[in-house]
Amino acid sequence: MPNSQNSLFFFFFFFFFFFLFTPPLVHSRTTPQSSKTTVLHVASSIENTQKIFSNTQRASLNQQQLKSSSSSSLSLQLHSRASLHKPSHGDYKSLTLARLERDSARVKSLLTRLDLALKRITPSDLHPADGHNKFIFGAEEMQGPIVSGTSQGSGEYFTRVGIGKPPSQAYMVIDTGSDVSWIQCAPCADCYQQADPIFDPASSASYSPLTCESPRCKSLDLSECRNNTCLYEVSYGDGSYTVGDFVTETVTIGSASVRDIAIGCGHNNEGLFVGAAGLLGLGGGSLSFPSQLNTTFFSYCLVDRDSDSTSTLEFDSPLPPNAVTAPIHRNRELDTFYYLGLTGISVGGEMLQIPGSSFLVDATGNGGIIVDSGTAVTRLQTDVYNSLRDAFVKGTRGLPPAKGVALFDTCYNLSSKTSVEVPTLSFHFPEGKELPLPAKNYLIPVDSDGTFCLGFAPTTSSLSIIGNVQQQGTRVGFDLKKSIVGFSANNC
Ligand SMILES: *[C@@H]1O[C@H](CO)[C@@H](O)[C@H](O)[C@H]1NC(C)=O
Ligand SMILES: *[C@@H]1O[C@H](CO)[C@@H](O)[C@H](O)[C@H]1NC(C)=O
Ligand SMILES: *[C@@H]1O[C@H](CO)[C@@H](O)[C@H](O)[C@H]1NC(C)=O
Repeated sequence: MPNSQNSLFFFFFFFFFFFLFTPPLVHSRTTPQSSKTTVLHVASSIENTQKIFSNTQRASLNQQQLKSSSSSSLSLQLHSRASLHKPSHGDYKSLTLARLERDSARVKSLLTRLDLALKRITPSDLHPADGHNKFIFGAEEMQGPIVSGTSQGSGEYFTRVGIGKPPSQAYMVIDTGSDVSWIQCAPCADCYQQADPIFDPASSASYSPLTCESPRCKSLDLSECRNNTCLYEVSYGDGSYTVGDFVTETVTIGSASVRDIAIGCGHNNEGLFVGAAGLLGLGGGSLSFPSQLNTTFFSYCLVDRDSDSTSTLEFDSPLPPNAVTAPIHRNRELDTFYYLGLTGISVGGEMLQIPGSSFLVDATGNGGIIVDSGTAVTRLQTDVYNSLRDAFVKGTRGLPPAKGVALFDTCYNLSSKTSVEVPTLSFHFPEGKELPLPAKNYLIPVDSDGTFCLGFAPTTSSLSIIGNVQQQGTRVGFDLKKSIVGFSANNC
């Protein structure tokens, strides 16, 4: 039967060519290339902006227990600000505007920190309102200072730790942009409102003041000696600050208690840190919490800013094997910040045409791009931002545009859509490594009516910042010994 022989022949013929011209799977796995577009689920995103205002969703966090994860003995739960404090805003738009205002204050505080390290400003410049800088340290003059009206409370993500012996539970803001950890302490000369009772050193058996000669006192940027005890001050550049005794305490994380951790016991605190008792400094300097733990690894996963769910902050679990890794660079002038070895950004599969030096910190300590847990929106140098925006706009011509909102200049009216395809946005690292971002990490809702904006912004500063909007849902891990940061998607 010649006919069936023919079809058999053609069958094998096509089979052969099919295999010849189909790229082998192995090859595409070894050189991962993300697809050119990514789907944004518009409807579910809009739904989330409405849920945040419903009363039923919010559980009382104070009743939640410290829970340690099985993967790590030094594991803490991490909460978004929205879960600690039900937003008092009437709608999602005003919540967004308040967040963005806070975000500007945050960026300002990081730049102030850098300016201080690069000696572009002096400590006394931090208190322009007082010709009497002394009042910060002088107990007799501890009266209400002038605080800028823009300060609406720092901190976007919180964890709960035990301070002292026996441990008093306290909510702490986590902050990779600073080193000194502190809590509000009785007696208060000036304390803002917090969710937990104010920590009282008299109730702790492990409280011990540091002397002025102790190396850790000498490591402080701003310190003073009174009666041979060490006083610390941390100013955040937006009018908020904390001042008090620099002491050692026992800190309990999960099931582990760690003795002799230097923290600030703040008697004079301004800036409305919104409910939190203090701050956990996760920076790269010697006084930071990871440094004092002598830990090699720490990692965090930031849950959706609008969600009540929790994730973890871990101190001894290594980077997941699937993590996309990049080198951490250091600034000789400031060891606090984690500078990321970013080599490029692509939009829709095309690399942006930007100078290779765009993300490098130079010998004078300027430039570079840091990973920050406290900044929301990624800031890029204006040229880089413009290049990214233009490429994104080119790839979204089919979407209905909308007016800009606050610092966002690229917005869309997606009210009539359920989902849309947008260009994939990826960060690129040495050795051809690529981190594609989920669409919801760069096209973000600014109201509940379907307006979405490109969640990046330009900065006139030389310092660029990877913000937490771009890190959400991704476990960000730091290998401090190897100086590597790893990102693993969907790993909260
Ligand atoms: C200084 O220390 C001494 C001894 O510890 C104490 O009696 C005194 O009250 C302290 N003075 C001040 C101003 O704190
Ligand atoms: C960390 O190392 C230092 C110096 O080696 C040591 O003094 C300190 O006790 C260690 N801390 C912890 C928590 O292991
Ligand atoms: C968005 O588009 C819809 C129609 O799809 C329109 O009804 C609405 O007014 C637009 N919103 C704004 C803010 O322009």
